[in-house]
Parts: sequence; structure tokens; C-alpha cells
Amino acid sequence: AEPLRIGIAGLGTVGAAVARVLADKAAELTRQCGRDIIVNAVSARDAKRDRGVDLSSAQWFDDPVELAKKADIDVFVELIGGEDGPALACVKAALDAGRHVVTANKALLAKHGVALAETAEKKGVLLNYEAAVAGGIPVIKTMREAMAGNTVNRVFGILNGTCNYILTRMEAEGLSFEECLKDAQRLGYAEADPTFDIEGNDTAHKLAILTSLAFGTKIAAGDIYLEGISNITQADIRAASNLGFRIKLLGVAQRTESGIEQRVHPTMVPTASVIAQVHGVTNAVAIETDILGELLLSGPGAGGNATASAVVGDIADIAKSQPGFQHGPVFGRPAKELKPYRKAR
Ligand code: NDP
Ligand code: HSE
Repeated sequence: AEPLRIGIAGLGTVGAAVARVLADKAAELTRQCGRDIIVNAVSARDAKRDRGVDLSSAQWFDDPVELAKKADIDVFVELIGGEDGPALACVKAALDAGRHVVTANKALLAKHGVALAETAEKKGVLLNYEAAVAGGIPVIKTMREAMAGNTVNRVFGILNGTCNYILTRMEAEGLSFEECLKDAQRLGYAEADPTFDIEGNDTAHKLAILTSLAFGTKIAAGDIYLEGISNITQADIRAASNLGFRIKLLGVAQRTESGIEQRVHPTMVPTASVIAQVHGVTNAVAIETDILGELLLSGPGAGGNATASAVVGDIADIAKSQPGFQHGPVFGRPAKELKPYRKAR
């Protein structure tokens, strides 16, 4: 079979890890997909920076939009970040050019996901985004594909690795908030602007995507009640602990009689509960449905390798798909049929 040709825009923590995994696991991926996956084009800001992987055979583009439009590729992989700017421009360009897209960009999807899904569905290409929610946990596939027919009543969890890492180390080691945040940045967990992590916006972006999948509604990130962890102190953590609780930043979306309730805030969870045992960069997503009952998924929520695992899985899905195969809708239902979002009173 013809190789699957990919172009990667963004070679930072995630992009470089994706390129490394594709190189290191090339033979295994070829066996699994039935064809080679080759990186034909790349783009980042600094053409000279060593990315820890040999990209000399890939064509370099200074402009990711040019890559999306002109490179010899079948799949465009967006790993730049940001809700507008170059990420939006190059994803739009790739979809308009009829190329499949893989992205880890939850900020982009939380703002433009429905419009981008409409374009992808009109063009008959895939828009895959497993890495955008809960890093390496395969929650998108689980909700979109493995839970067909289920009615979801509630989805909630720990959706930000940086915050859970900070809260875990503050409690276990008595470290300051600032020290822990610095380490999360050094380890590649935090967003380019870590305010998005610590003020809860990143959790809200992910929750908004899960809400759409769970309830078949248009994405409404702006309607989420939002409170981050930047004001949590050692005194708060000790007080919670003395009462038999841990503080976790949770995102919660649930069906109510008056509409859908979406909220993100620090929550006191009983120390003996399952969610309280989720430590460090680990994420957890709980999904409650009528047929399946309660499902809990947990695993690495951020970092190069964990995120690359999900991105490479999305690329492999495209490599395995048959030409002309009618792909399932991006958010579980056709984008045009997503219902207006009704906020709970
Ligand atoms: P980084 O900041 O590490 O990398 C961003 C990359 O984009 C860099 O290579 C940068 O180039 C490149 N870039 C920035 N602007 C442009 C531009 N105008 N044109 C071309 N390239 C550009 O981010 P991450 O790898 O951490 O994150 C990437 C995406 O993945 C984001 O959407 C993030 O939210 C998401 N994500 C991140 C996770 C993580 O654990 N880090 C987990 C899950 C999702 P240069 O290197 O030359 O500066
Ligand atoms: N900054 C994000 C986090 C990356 O810490 O969870 C994964 O989406």
C-alpha cells in the first residue's frame, strides 16, 4: 500500500515526541497499519533548533499554513496550540484542501470545534483529537465509538495534569504552589501560558468537548462556571486533610431538569474516594450512563510521550482507514445536528 504522508506543524513538547515515536516505532506501526507512515513536512518557528529526532528528510516550512496547503501530505498534524492565530488558520487550510487533520489543541476545538467539524464532514475527511482531552487516556474514542446507544447523565473528572501535579506535591511534600508550577513547566506539562492551567481554562476547554460528546450539544465553553487553583494555599490543603478530604480541581458536566450544568472548581473529595487516589500528572474521567453504568478511566494526562501516544493512535486510525470509507462524525453526531446548548438554571 502507498505510505501515509504526514505533515507536522509544531515541534515542541508534543510535536517532537510525536516525530520521535513515529521514527522509533516505524516498523511496528507499519505492521499494525499495513503501510508506512512517513513525515514528509514539518513547521516550527526555529528551523535551527535540535528536536532530538532526525527530520532532515522532511520538507521545512516556515509557515504552517503553506505546509497545510502545499506540502505533499495526506494528514496535517497541528501541534502549535492557541485558540486562534496560526493554529486556526492552518487547520482551516488543511480541511479546505481536503486533508485529514489530527490535533491536540483543546483551546481551538472549544472555540471553533463545531465549525471545523462541519467543514471536515462536508469534505469527507477526519478531524481526530484524542490527545486534546486527558492526554493519553482514550476518552474520545470511548465516548464517541464504544458507548453508542448510551445516554450519558454525568461526566466529570480531573482533566488537567499540571493542576493535579501541583496539588499532589503541595500536599505530599509541603512545597509551595510556585515551586510545583515551575516543575510542571520544566516537565512539559503546562500550557505555553500556564494561566490557562491554573485558572481552570484548560479544564473548561476539555470539559466543553466532553459535554458536546456526552449530550449532543454545541460546544459552549463560555458558559462554564470557572474557578482555578491559584489561590489554594498550604493552609487550605492542611485544613482539608484534617477533615478527611483532598483538594482536586474537577470539571463536572451533568444533565439536570433545567438544562446542562457545567462547572470547573477546586473540590474537597473524601480521602478514601477513588478520585482522591489520582496523583500527580495522572488524569481521571468518570462517565455515568444508563446502559453501561459507571466507567472510570485514568492514566497519564500530559507530557510528551503520553500525548504523543494519543496523537500517533489518531494517525494510525487514518492509516488503517480504507479510501472512500465514510467516516463517523467528529463529535459523535453530525455537526449540523448538534443541539443548541441549554444552560442549567
Ligand atoms: P510547545 O509550546 O512545546 O510547542 C509549540 C510548537 O509550536 C513549537 O515547536 C513552536 O516552534 C511551534 N510554533 C509556535 N508558533 C508557531 C508558528 N506561528 N508557526 C509554526 N510553528 C509554531 O507546546 P506543546 O507541544 O506543549 O503543545 C502543543 C499543543 O498540544 C497545544 O495545543 C497543547 O495545548 C496541546 N497539548 C499539550 C500537552 C502537553 O502535555 N504539553 C498535552 C495535550 C495537549 P518553536 O519550537 O520553534 O518555538
Ligand atoms: N497543560 C495540560 C495539562 C496539557 O496540564 O493537563 C494536557 O492537556
